[in-house]
Amino acid sequence: MKKLGLFILLLTVFYKIQAQDEKMNLFIDDLMNKMTLEEKIGQLNLTTSGGFVTGSAVNEKTHLKLQSGQIGGMLNALSLTAMKASMDIAVKESPHHIPLLFGMDVIHGYQTIFPIPLAMSCLWDMDLVEKSARIAAQEATANGVAWTYSPMVDIARDPRWGRIAEGAGEDPWLGAQVAKALVKGYQGSDLSLDNTMMACVKHFALYGAAEAGRDYNTVDMSKITMYNDYLPPYKAAVDAGAGSVMTSFNVIDCIPSSGNHWLLTELLRNQWGFKGFVVTDYTAVNEMINHGMGDLQTVSALALKAGTDMDMVGEGFLTTLKKSLDEGKISIKDIDLACRRVLEAKYKLGLFTDPYRYMNPDRAKKDVLTPDNLKAAREIAMRSMVLLKNDKQILPFKKSGTIAVIGPLGNSKADMIGTWAFAGGQDKVSTVVDGLKNIGGNSVNILYAKGSELTDNPVLLKNGSSFFPGQKKEEQIASSEQLLKEALATAGKADVIVAVLGESSSWSGEASSMSDIGIQKVQQNLLKALLGTGKPVVLVLVNGRPMTLPWENANISAILEAWAGGTEAGNAVASILFGDYNPSGKLTTTFPISVGQIPLYYNHKNTGRPMDPKNKFTSKYLDISNDPVYPFGYGMSYTTFEYSDIKLSKTQLKGDEKLTTSFTLTNNGKMAGEEVVQLYIQQPVASISRPVKELKSFKKVLLQPGEKKDINIEIGTSELKFYNSDLKYDWEPGDFIIYIGTNSRDTKSAKINWVK
Ligand code: BGC
Repeated sequence: MKKLGLFILLLTVFYKIQAQDEKMNLFIDDLMNKMTLEEKIGQLNLTTSGGFVTGSAVNEKTHLKLQSGQIGGMLNALSLTAMKASMDIAVKESPHHIPLLFGMDVIHGYQTIFPIPLAMSCLWDMDLVEKSARIAAQEATANGVAWTYSPMVDIARDPRWGRIAEGAGEDPWLGAQVAKALVKGYQGSDLSLDNTMMACVKHFALYGAAEAGRDYNTVDMSKITMYNDYLPPYKAAVDAGAGSVMTSFNVIDCIPSSGNHWLLTELLRNQWGFKGFVVTDYTAVNEMINHGMGDLQTVSALALKAGTDMDMVGEGFLTTLKKSLDEGKISIKDIDLACRRVLEAKYKLGLFTDPYRYMNPDRAKKDVLTPDNLKAAREIAMRSMVLLKNDKQILPFKKSGTIAVIGPLGNSKADMIGTWAFAGGQDKVSTVVDGLKNIGGNSVNILYAKGSELTDNPVLLKNGSSFFPGQKKEEQIASSEQLLKEALATAGKADVIVAVLGESSSWSGEASSMSDIGIQKVQQNLLKALLGTGKPVVLVLVNGRPMTLPWENANISAILEAWAGGTEAGNAVASILFGDYNPSGKLTTTFPISVGQIPLYYNHKNTGRPMDPKNKFTSKYLDISNDPVYPFGYGMSYTTFEYSDIKLSKTQLKGDEKLTTSFTLTNNGKMAGEEVVQLYIQQPVASISRPVKELKSFKKVLLQPGEKKDINIEIGTSELKFYNSDLKYDWEPGDFIIYIGTNSRDTKSAKINWVK
């Protein structure tokens, strides 16, 4: 009976969707019948608002183009008044009154800024990840934005690449969970509501694998690595219903993504069943000229035929498609298909019903930076921070005495919000100084001294300035002796020192690759001088990427990775330093000892000569160890957790059986705390060489002091699957090793055998 009920429900939903689709198709058929060729091509043109740009091109004569229906959408506009004015022209003056699609890089919040995405992935909490996207959508959709260029799901194994800040780290499985959660958060269950927005999965594909970690650089990868290690998060976002996909700047198998038919049509649409529209990245069509694919007309035709629907900024489509059609290089069907997909997105967002539905001045005033949103931002920031070291229980602090905050990042609002945070709200940001004052209350005395500049490297000073409005430019270098003298004088008055060091927010994100990912020399000198005072020093890191911290790890007693934590960053840091919150974040990227080890990631394959310190002819470096400073999954707590040995429901399994792995987790410290329990699997023998370990499940568990909990994690054959050399996704029978532990390195293991 129950089954019949479910069947009827599913059937009703199916027919409802079909009826909606039919209605949409009829509407679009009718509209497209009336549209001229120029107007159809116009829908494929995404133009800049001119506000700020991430390439050399900007668009001109926008007013005229809007009037004649030559613009389908506009990106990164900040003023609601200006957006409304553009929408007015489109819907009142253009031939068929087609509303504009406004898109924006709402990457980790709109005005309430959450931690950078890399930090949010350290939450290991998909409900909170989803919540951040939900709030971002609520704020952005009040301000005209119906489409966000997020989630960025590029797997990154190279911390030199500045855009590692924008993704969920190095693990494909965790990346896929984050991708799903973000799409759900942005799009909700009904895209046509006025507080949900369309997601755009980017950068399709493999953008995070840029050679040498240099942004926009070339990518070369085997298909099997692509399928197993890099594609899963994109696919997860598509499966979660993401309405659009953005191409990447790089080549895939030597063909730029925007012109890659295999990628955009065979894989994305035919294999994965993607039904939305594809937009290029900023001038990516034009950049195909530099990739050596031909002139603007040729590359534009190539992109359209490959499956690109919308051209971001470059106007290759706008200026050449008609000519290509006249010359028979493309067909009207190609144009119609792309135009239809863009119109469908507008229809699904409800823009044809009410073009102004996302422009709500009342909501824009009252729905942003609300107390609830700020509360969520603080909670998410606290939980994204990772305690890297805490020797001698130096942390948490008591709320008394004098704390000296020292460092160029100790009181810098602009650096707390990180990359892609330009919609305002910066004045609300709390710095570490603000946070310690707010959370510490009157019984703590907070002093501050800058201590040093961020860097004295003239090249970095020149190149590392930001292009985002609101983000600061590097300041003039003050005399380093003077700064140090002031800092030591301030430190002299304090009981403890909090050194806030790391990176400017403009040193990570787009076009922000770094060859040296350690703390800059001037800051390190400051740290050494502070250590020389003999007072306890806590290092708080503000940064957008994994850093090389071997010296810091060896010499500093307590280190907190605070990332660029967003609007509530400083309050969140202070809540942790004072122990109001017990840290629970875990790294989602490996922190190497040296850039010389890169790429360094936990889920690597074994070599034929695995490292053996006693044997020279094994895979290792002569000058340093192979190990990272902090491995994937690593993060400490103020309390300690003990893992019992693993118990298995069975050691021999067959077919679709399930395995239950159990163990007891004990909080044997003095504070309540949360632990992210991680489960990894290895298949030592298979038809292809498999990674030494792969994350397949995790649980976040809260335990009171002294509390024990029995934890069960179930796995089935879907956790064993991988793409084999025929790119077939299946599992192979054999032995498996199950690892359970507090991070990817410190685990207990048990062996099973699973047959078909
Ligand atoms: C970036 C994209 C971004 C786009 C629009 C490009 O330069 O690569 O991630 O969405 O600009 O701002």
